[in-house]
Amino acid sequence: MTVPRRQTKLAVVGAGAVGATLAFTALNRGTARTVALMDVNKAKVEAEVLDLQHGAMFVPQAEVIGSDDVEVCRDADVVVVTAGAKQRPGQSRLDLAEATISLTRAILPGLVEVAPHATFLLVTNPVDVVTRAAQEISGLPPERVFGSGTVLDSSRLRAALAQHCGVATANVHAYVAGEHGDSEIALWSSARIAGVPLLEWEPLPGRSPLDAEARKLIARDVVESAYRVIAGKGATNYAVGLAATRIVEAVLNDEHRVMPVSTRIDGFHGISDVCLSLPTLVDARGATTVVDTPLSDEEAEGLRSSAASVRAVQRRFDL
Ligand code: LAC
Repeated sequence: MTVPRRQTKLAVVGAGAVGATLAFTALNRGTARTVALMDVNKAKVEAEVLDLQHGAMFVPQAEVIGSDDVEVCRDADVVVVTAGAKQRPGQSRLDLAEATISLTRAILPGLVEVAPHATFLLVTNPVDVVTRAAQEISGLPPERVFGSGTVLDSSRLRAALAQHCGVATANVHAYVAGEHGDSEIALWSSARIAGVPLLEWEPLPGRSPLDAEARKLIARDVVESAYRVIAGKGATNYAVGLAATRIVEAVLNDEHRVMPVSTRIDGFHGISDVCLSLPTLVDARGATTVVDTPLSDEEAEGLRSSAASVRAVQRRFDL
């Protein structure tokens, strides 16, 4: 649980499953002193705020406010945008671009006006294209406008590896990079399990080897995770809410934490002019420095292919 060092304010735009879960998670973890929820659906946002306020005695002291008016986000330190079209079963994240880009164009200027010094975290899908659009629309320094990217995918990968190898998730250090979507790639060559290079990992007694076939199946499961959850319950919300809250804390607490968030990539592995996820330093200034994580030739090729997928969509919006 983190204790904010000052009167911090987190604003969450969108009181749907993801936004409400993010607000709930932030309250449980004491992420910010004020949690503001905004949604155009007045009845919904007021009900979510009431429900959150009713749990006040069980969580660290915080003020919970909400409205359908952007004014509720005034002077926020971090603004998280979760509002946008929902993936339907079988629909890819990139398919949502049209609806979400126009929504971003409609709401972002007003948010920047009331919270001009905030760091903006985009969660809405397709998050890489939306992040690029938000950087253009906001006119803010790019480090202060970034996306949740593959932080969630990296969490899914680590959980799957921990389960396969029989170790705690905390002992797994591995990133997913590229698009938060179908073209993402697992960075096997830089991954470590309990300090051991993943590609040299010897199975523990009674455990299966982490050979190429096992890695391929795990990587495929990570890519397909959201589709499976959406098919069963209509949307994902818990893991993405946790991931986004953790990113917010890295900003509010100036943690200098390296996380695979979606930022403008220019010059890494021959990639430019696109937002993708690579391990990046996140602190009070936002997503500031991409770490030059070594990639295998295959990983670099996969990253370039992922960049091409995202760029093909962003070009449709003159981004
Ligand atoms: C997921 C959504 C947030 O991967 O894209 O669960």
